[in-house]
Amino acid sequence: MNLTHRPRRLRQDRVRGLVSETSLEPSDLIAPIFVDATTDERVEIESMPGHERVPVDDAVARVEDVLETGVEAVMLFGIPESKDPEGTRAWADNGVVQEATRRITDATDAYVITDACLCEYTDHGHCGPLEEELRVEDHEHGADCAHDPTLTVDNDATLEALERIAVSHAEAGADMIAPSGMMDGMVGAIRDGLDGAGYEHVPIMSYAAKYESAFYGPFRDAADGAPSFGNRRHYQMDPANAREAMREVRLDAEQGADVMMVKPALPYLDIVSAVRREFDHPVAAYNVSGEYAMLHAAAEKGWLDLEAVALESLLSIKRAGADLILTYFAEDVAREL
Ligand code: PBG
Repeated sequence: MNLTHRPRRLRQDRVRGLVSETSLEPSDLIAPIFVDATTDERVEIESMPGHERVPVDDAVARVEDVLETGVEAVMLFGIPESKDPEGTRAWADNGVVQEATRRITDATDAYVITDACLCEYTDHGHCGPLEEELRVEDHEHGADCAHDPTLTVDNDATLEALERIAVSHAEAGADMIAPSGMMDGMVGAIRDGLDGAGYEHVPIMSYAAKYESAFYGPFRDAADGAPSFGNRRHYQMDPANAREAMREVRLDAEQGADVMMVKPALPYLDIVSAVRREFDHPVAAYNVSGEYAMLHAAAEKGWLDLEAVALESLLSIKRAGADLILTYFAEDVAREL
């Protein structure tokens, strides 16, 4: 055969590295960590093999293990000792994330990013205080919402809470704040709060295009943050929409977000790649709990090679355009790299 084009030439072992278009480094990865104020011992998370909720006393040791793999950044989620309708423990000076942040930043060089949301802190599990008509005394929140199961969170009241949360995290030493509640105006409110308190150097990574996804299932077990009624459809995005993601990212850009996150990652790579093309901001993608759990489940059955599919997943997320990846595979993949 007289073939002019033979792409296979560049797939030979000694040249493939030279022509590789995408690289993955431990420094691209952010490891999520669950800090739990309700326990003195580590608790395994059944649906996320290899992950645990750690008590505040173990937070530093947990982060040191992450750093050893070459991963330099962590994302902290907190499980508070108590919950109430407003989620007041989310901005407590001695709250679980604040305490863990203080200890981690004192003892290590880890770059500490804190998730700023209320769903782990409210007794009804929604990402902010409820609308007036749903607030009831008997903690049967939502009993009245049968007429509209998507009517839940009071957007503007939530903004005030988010501002307090962000400032309390920054006071504790957080390096970056990541609001995940998909409230309108959340980036602007947090930026105002941080700037007003003297934290204008603290960047915001916005969960800018966060979808209402069934892939968050294992996380909600892990962080005890499932809504007790209704769902998150009226604040998180409809999986059917792509143009709307551009609008969300644009609004967050206008409000001063520094990093734009798309979440989940693998089922939404078209969104990652569109945000990459349209915006100049660093793009983060969150390879969420369900994406992690399904690979583990298949590997446990012997149907997939876990190391290989984990690496391929993260490489694909980068190839689609992500600069940073939040992933429960961070340590495992960093060790392989
Ligand atoms: C809190 C939050 C969630 C996740 C990150 N922050 C849960 C949710 O929105 O229901 C999910 C992360 C994951 O599934 O790994 N708002």
